Amino acid sequence: APVPGDVLVLFGISGDLAHKKILPALYRLTERGELTVPVVGVALTDWDTEVLRSHAADAVREAIEKVDDDVLQRFLGLLTLVAGDYADGSTFSRLADEVRARAEPDDPFVVHYLAVPPSLFGTVADALATVGLHRRARLVVEKPFGHDLASARALNAALARHYTEDQVFRVDHYLGKESVEDLLVLRFANTVLEPLWSRTWVDRIEITMAESFDVADRGSFYDAVGTVRDVVQNHLLQVLAYLTMEAPRSDAADDQRDAKHALLASVRAIDPAETVRGQYTGYLDVPGVAPGSTTETFVSVVLHIDDWRWTGVPVHIRAGKALPETLLEIDVVLQAPPRPLFTGVDTGTPPANRIRIRLQPDSGVTFFVLAKQPGQGDVAVEVPVSVDLRQVLGLAHEPYERIFGDALVGDPAHFARFDTLEEAWRIVAPILDPGTTPQPYAPGTWGPEGGPVTAGTTTSNA
Ligand code: BG6
Repeated sequence: APVPGDVLVLFGISGDLAHKKILPALYRLTERGELTVPVVGVALTDWDTEVLRSHAADAVREAIEKVDDDVLQRFLGLLTLVAGDYADGSTFSRLADEVRARAEPDDPFVVHYLAVPPSLFGTVADALATVGLHRRARLVVEKPFGHDLASARALNAALARHYTEDQVFRVDHYLGKESVEDLLVLRFANTVLEPLWSRTWVDRIEITMAESFDVADRGSFYDAVGTVRDVVQNHLLQVLAYLTMEAPRSDAADDQRDAKHALLASVRAIDPAETVRGQYTGYLDVPGVAPGSTTETFVSVVLHIDDWRWTGVPVHIRAGKALPETLLEIDVVLQAPPRPLFTGVDTGTPPANRIRIRLQPDSGVTFFVLAKQPGQGDVAVEVPVSVDLRQVLGLAHEPYERIFGDALVGDPAHFARFDTLEEAWRIVAPILDPGTTPQPYAPGTWGPEGGPVTAGTTTSNA
């Protein structure tokens, strides 16, 4: 059975991720009574605990509209800081003293959260072991997990020196998104979709992750990464797996992760000939971007799932920065009727049925129904029938609430298992760093001209 944490240690507490996402999420968990244990922050900073607390109060107030002062005080009271360099052994002996002074049982179970650059994962993991903070512990690591298959394996081996697979939780914040989890409910709590959900009725699938903002102040991070590593290898392949995998044997975390692994293992490595790479004009002027960089800020790929259910059904994925909108949606395009009996509005035949699953910014499903155009003639027109789940069910929790809540109680279901990450790296391997110049596109357009032609390009977000 999972062991709940007696103390949370947060490496990188002075960083940007902590400021924007983690501290507000921890406040929410405090509000719901899900965070009651001490939180020890670690960072290379000249702050002390008082400065950390006032920084945390600001972070919470910036992110959350209605802050309850009692809850905030309770949350701030949980926080203390150990400042120091991760390369310095004394940082970790001071951390060990702090953990033992503050956590309840003598031999506390420690949840370590590493919101630090991946180059430090191994250093921190080893240093924790030298002070004995690895034995009764979980190690939660942020993305990216590796730069390619070989480096992901090396990183995993480094962690495995002192931690078992059960102890390592790899974060992909998309697995903490309610709309992503809802894919599983949509597929496996409803039976209406199942008869449609295969090569028998699906013609193709189109997944679009568009962001209207550009790389702005993240130039040096982004330039070393690019779209494929930043969002395709991780977030979008996780989404694909939920969308297309077989039903898990049970609701146990590993049954779900087995189903995901089986799906990803059936996906062919991406063919560069079916890939379009783009870079928005102006990217090369972003501070931190290397002169003449060939890093992509847009990519479109075609995935082929070589399994019984999906053989022959292409999955088009495209993602990019500086596009016209910010959204994540999936279009499942069904086959056309076997014989055309009607005409379309302005084409020879009406469009085929589409089921659109909207994951961001709203959350819901749109079924595009064909209906008779009033008047004479046999014209079938596409009409969206749509539900906005936020309106019906209320606002979703933020992903980091889920991630920290699960990390604290020890539920691994919404973390990436290493075998699925290995498959994901294998799938994208042929299109990492091809060294070719990406095609330019103007900011605010749907990527390079001659790029993918997909129904989703219309994105009337009905
Ligand atoms: C991050 C990427 O992992 O995910 C960012 O590094 C991207 O580039 C972000 O913008 C998208 O996350 P969300 O939750 O805003 O869709």
